[in-house]
Amino acid sequence: MAQLSGSADVPDMGRRQFMNLLTFGAVTGTALGALYPVVKFFIPPSTGGTSGGVIAKDELGNDIVVSQFLAKHNGNDRVLAQGLKGDPTYIVVESDKTIANYGINSICTHLGCVVPWNVAENKFKCPCHGSQYDSTGKVVRGPAPLSLALVHATVMEDDKLSFTNWKETDFRTGKKPWWS
Ligand code: FES
Repeated sequence: MAQLSGSADVPDMGRRQFMNLLTFGAVTGTALGALYPVVKFFIPPSTGGTSGGVIAKDELGNDIVVSQFLAKHNGNDRVLAQGLKGDPTYIVVESDKTIANYGINSICTHLGCVVPWNVAENKFKCPCHGSQYDSTGKVVRGPAPLSLALVHATVMEDDKLSFTNWKETDFRTGKKPWWS
């Protein structure tokens, strides 16, 4: 008990100095926090290169390097990556071994299971209640009510892959996207 009120708690710094430091940290942190949206607003999207999106990452959290990625995968593969908001998102490898300009969110629109890709059947099949989606993620069998969500996938100059929100018409249904 005696140790709690002694000088052992802040050995090398006077209590006043220590409190000043804490206050400075708190004020600086608050100021930076307040500035962040302002700074972000003034940085043009091209500077970040991702227009509010994310760089696709592998299961270890490393940025995917497109040339290395393509060397490891076959045409018609669908490969999971970390996407927007951390959602597991499929990178679509086209049959000519290029990356499609869209990615597919793997979360089943029924009750949220991650839907595996079945390359032999050329479709996504949900193990939870049997929903099926075609190779573009369009629902072809319920109970899932909707197709899998899309994101834009863009290969960047630095050989990374950027995922950004898909707000345009869903090319599979011709309708407005349900997810945005
Ligand atoms: Fe996929 Fe139910 S969660 S079919």
